[in-house]
Amino acid sequence: METTRVEARPVAERLVADEIAALVRRKPSAVLGLATGDTPTGVYRELVRMHREERVSFRGVHTFNLDEYCGLAPDHPETFRSWMQHHLFDHVDVRPEHTHLPDGRPREDDWAPPCKSYERAIEDLGGIDLLLLGIGRNGHIAFNEPGSARTTRTRRVELHPWTREDAVARFGTLARVPTHALTMGIATLLEARAIRVLAFGARKAPIVARTLATTPDMNWPASLLHGHPDVRLLVDREAWP
Ligand code: PGA
Repeated sequence: METTRVEARPVAERLVADEIAALVRRKPSAVLGLATGDTPTGVYRELVRMHREERVSFRGVHTFNLDEYCGLAPDHPETFRSWMQHHLFDHVDVRPEHTHLPDGRPREDDWAPPCKSYERAIEDLGGIDLLLLGIGRNGHIAFNEPGSARTTRTRRVELHPWTREDAVARFGTLARVPTHALTMGIATLLEARAIRVLAFGARKAPIVARTLATTPDMNWPASLLHGHPDVRLLVDREAWP
């Protein structure tokens, strides 16, 4: 995996935002894979700035988020849809109907149909050109928790206890954190033409070290990125092991 070590987080955020801007200028109908969480916030801030000040347009762009919680009502403030509206979609000119997240709304029956249609929608648009990723405490990528096979596709998963713990700050109590989510699978992620993985701050240093040291192993899902033809890990000084 190619790695880029920068002195400070904003440098990496700028590099990735520049790459996204160059992509959408070259290919106005580009398909982006987007992450939520603390890690990508600065990239979105920079994209919003570039939209306002440098006329970078997202009008023809399609976006697919990595994951969404299961069972939250659409107006729940902690859906990843709400998060994306707040951090990016409400501030750029992307068409609302071009922004996709897995449909995690409460449902009685099987979750396979919304998962299948998500995969189909990505495929119908020609696949993801550039995918943004963070890495979780247990090595997860999107919500592919340890034990996720390389062949997995968009599906419903049970969230790992650490993943739920890490979400308590947003939900208030552990009991309010959803137990399940819909996530792109490892195979879905690996089909993206370019993957940019970000890791910032001292708490990510052991995660980065383990990702770089582990040969592909489903018990550390981020290690499954090794061997992708265009994957780059960008880390700041504190996250460098
Ligand atoms: P974070 O989460 O960006 O909030 O650190 C990363 C992840 O769990 O993928």
